[in-house]
Amino acid sequence: MKSIRFNSIKNIHKLSVAPMMDCTDRHFRMIMRKISSEALLYTEMIVAQSLIYTNKKEKFLDFNKEESPLSIQFGGDNPEILKEAARMAQDWGYDEINFNVGCPSPRVCSGNFGASLMKEPEKVAKCIESLKKNCSLPVTIKHRIGVDNEDSFINLNNFVRDIANAGADRFTVHARKAILKGLNPKQNRTIPPLKYDVVKKLKKLNPNLLIEINGGFKNIDESLEALNHFDGVMIGRSVYKHPLRWSEIDQKIYGLNKKTKSASDIIISLIPYIDNHLTNGGKSWDICKHLINLVEGIPKARIWRNQISIKSIKKELDIEYLLKSTSMLQEMGY
Ligand SMILES: Cc1cc2nc3c(=O)[nH]c(=O)nc-3n(C[C@H](O)[C@H](O)[C@H](O)COP(=O)(O)O)c2cc1C
Repeated sequence: MKSIRFNSIKNIHKLSVAPMMDCTDRHFRMIMRKISSEALLYTEMIVAQSLIYTNKKEKFLDFNKEESPLSIQFGGDNPEILKEAARMAQDWGYDEINFNVGCPSPRVCSGNFGASLMKEPEKVAKCIESLKKNCSLPVTIKHRIGVDNEDSFINLNNFVRDIANAGADRFTVHARKAILKGLNPKQNRTIPPLKYDVVKKLKKLNPNLLIEINGGFKNIDESLEALNHFDGVMIGRSVYKHPLRWSEIDQKIYGLNKKTKSASDIIISLIPYIDNHLTNGGKSWDICKHLINLVEGIPKARIWRNQISIKSIKKELDIEYLLKSTSMLQEMGY
């Protein structure tokens, strides 16, 4: 097995925010970037084939430079198409390419990509080789510990080693197997149980590989504990639903000496971005649907969120209103 160099991507992934369809769009990523300057962010999954054939490439690819470090996640199973996608990702300025072999959606699997590809390590290896050959970005993979009945440790270990030989620079392992028949994607994120021990064993047997754990982490302390065993931790739902719970990523995970931001600090720092979005004809709800999650656990949080949501959905929310609502938070020390 080739030994993976602990190269420049070693540190950016200590904590990452998982790719999530309909959640980790460019606006949510900007919110996250105001919370942490360090965490690695991911796009939502982009189907490589759709990207190649659309004439609206910017809709899929555009992002704000401030979002960096940013990994673009591709789904696909055709090395020729992935070759084009890799070139585009590099030209557009992404920092990394991630290949999705973990999504259990029947729609995705019927196109024979996502989690079902774990059953075809040779095909995955060809995809990784193609991505690697056609750009100079790190190429990483996100996968499960197994699929359906193909869930033995030997299978997993062989899969990871084959893909390492193909050139993958990092493995994000969602510590739960995917069940392709009988469970929908939502159920596949809670059933069957997480098995961190399997991923621990994988790391122990492959100490030269960069292995990031994913699944079920709810706060920074749990993530710090996981970093005793793994090279990185990827957080999905908790960071989306409770972003402020993660406001000390830079201090506690990356050891930076900086002031912890409050919800109002974060909203105020986003005002120029929101203003620009509105000025260019964007809808306030595009951003506010994510932003409202920042405010929770304080008196009147629900009222605040409702007011912002209603104004925003009715297209009546402007910067002045947002500033006024934010100063109410500030007065409460939030
Ligand atoms: C709404 C939603 C959308 C998701 N979309 C993707 C996706 O596009 N690509 C992917 O690899 N995983 C996707 N996932 C899975 C997450 O990246 C992550 O693996 C999963 O939620 C487990 O992590 P968590 O327990 O920290 O949430 C999605 C998860 C959710 C909740």
